[in-house]
Amino acid sequence: MSTGGRRTQRLDKVLSNLGFGSRAELKKKAKQGSIVVNGMVIKDPGKHVDPYKDIIEFDGETIQYREYVYLMLHKPPGVISATEDLRDRTVLDLLDAEHLVFEPFPVGRLDKDTEGLLLLTNDGKLAHELLSPRKHIPKTYEAIVEGRVSEDDVRSFAEGVTLDDGYHTLPGELVIHSDEEQGDGLVCSRISLTIHEGKFHQVKRMFEAVGKKVVYLKRVSMGELRLDENLEIGTYRELTEDELALIGRPSLV
Ligand code: URA
Repeated sequence: MSTGGRRTQRLDKVLSNLGFGSRAELKKKAKQGSIVVNGMVIKDPGKHVDPYKDIIEFDGETIQYREYVYLMLHKPPGVISATEDLRDRTVLDLLDAEHLVFEPFPVGRLDKDTEGLLLLTNDGKLAHELLSPRKHIPKTYEAIVEGRVSEDDVRSFAEGVTLDDGYHTLPGELVIHSDEEQGDGLVCSRISLTIHEGKFHQVKRMFEAVGKKVVYLKRVSMGELRLDENLEIGTYRELTEDELALIGRPSLV
């Protein structure tokens, strides 16, 4: 069993971080012989272990240690991208207890009515890297826009547009997929737009700048990470090893 080194931690800290109980509860469990490390019953929960190397069993179950969690959520409309809200449900209400123990938070925000890709993690460094305004991480959205989006709009977005507060955006890549006549003579366009910054309500305000209104908005990618189309709306899963590599996190251990 490890006795020192950078990666060693108190056994009770390792287990409480993973949601196995408070320090007081773990002290009791240790006395009862519930905690085994490398095949030896450990009665002193203050003992140091290397959670990545030592084999730790709790009540007969071998634990898988990790410090960070990375979750891909297919955000539904109607929930807030925050960790708490006085009125509305938040994205954390969609997570299970086994992931909530890691205290994840959303990386950036989507509006309440926007759906699509939202990454949640407790890795503050990654969140900082992905959100840093200097990094210009591209984000791609699909949208339905009231009115006929035109090649003029494509050109305007390519040069950047001026928002209601006078800010001139970075260039965005607008692609028109289709126009659809609604029954009442109204035309709606299906588009995708890639932007390289994250101003408040940016996509909606960019269309307002060219006199149009976004009526549906979905984020489909952030950097190299794409929304898994098999992920049902309102559900989530952990990132795969390949996806972790895409965001510069090669391995969880
Ligand atoms: N732009 C918006 O207008 N809303 C979002 O939720 C994301 C980008």
